Amino acid sequence: MKDFNGKVVYIVGGSSGIGLATAKALAAEGAHIVIFARRKEHLEQALGQIKSARVSSSQRLSYMQVDVSVWDEVKAVMSRAVTEFGVPDVLINCAGRAYPRVFEEISYQQFTETMEVNFYGIWHTTAVLVPYMKENGGHIVNVSSIAGFLGLFGYTDYSASKFAIIGFSEALRSELKQYGITVSVLCPPDTDTPGFHEENKTKPEETRAISAGAKLRQPDEIARALIDGMKKGEMYIIPGFDGRLIFLLKRLFPGLVEFVMDSTIKRVQAQRRNGGSPQKETAGG
Ligand SMILES: NC(=O)c1ccc[n+]([C@@H]2O[C@H](COP(=O)([O-])OP(=O)(O)OC[C@H]3O[C@@H](n4cnc5c(N)ncnc54)[C@H](OP(=O)(O)O)[C@@H]3O)[C@@H](O)[C@H]2O)c1
Repeated sequence: MKDFNGKVVYIVGGSSGIGLATAKALAAEGAHIVIFARRKEHLEQALGQIKSARVSSSQRLSYMQVDVSVWDEVKAVMSRAVTEFGVPDVLINCAGRAYPRVFEEISYQQFTETMEVNFYGIWHTTAVLVPYMKENGGHIVNVSSIAGFLGLFGYTDYSASKFAIIGFSEALRSELKQYGITVSVLCPPDTDTPGFHEENKTKPEETRAISAGAKLRQPDEIARALIDGMKKGEMYIIPGFDGRLIFLLKRLFPGLVEFVMDSTIKRVQAQRRNGGSPQKETAGG
């Protein structure tokens, strides 16, 4: 898709962070936008910002409340959205969460909730909307992470959900091509969003140390990379040089990547044993 002017775009998780930045950027390109999330007050505030970015008063901008992890709710809300706003040309599945902890500290409830929001949520919206989108074609973007192709310390539940998104997206891509639907997966690096600040509250020192050297990106940069990647029809959209380098190294030299991560983890754990203070700065997953 080269031109978003007049296109109907659904952004799930569009009230904050990367989803909101993408909604504003697409409003500035003339798209009609519906954002979806759970909290009404955040949706209302976000909609105000999206309205400020629009280029024409004829653009339809709206929001709907939904919890993507609840199948019956998604079915009802997405079906209503299609009736009220039209079939989406673009679906961006951006809702997600991360509570990094070491495996043995992750409760079964945290694990299931992470899977239900990050992965089942994408399954749910896609399952409802693909039958409609098949008619005219379009573009689906599923938001994964660097932790979706690189298993990271502290992210056993999160990485599992984000790896699942990539497998799902690759398989879906090959099935939907015949209907003119492009499927992409966005793998953002650490990005300065409310979700990222929440994530930092539980992040183990090892996880912080692994990503300490990475540049913290701004949501607007990620939105720009996402839109440029969609225009080029890229399957993998990986913003920033660091992320693309890790992607390449993980594919070509997985042992090297493991060695670097293991050395960092060992150093942090040795410091902790010796009572030293491990790396404090952060730029997470
Ligand atoms: N920021 C990063 O460093 C980073 C890095 C890699 C990948 N990512 C991924 O990028 C995506 C966006 O992250 P972000 O940092 O921009 O997060 P954010 O600022 O926390 O925004 C998350 C959005 O998802 C919505 N959401 C969360 N749970 C939901 C649910 N159950 N149903 C419906 N909507 C829900 C939130 O609204 P409500 O809470 O009101 O529902 C909000 O609109 C996530 O998938 C995240 O895993 C982020």
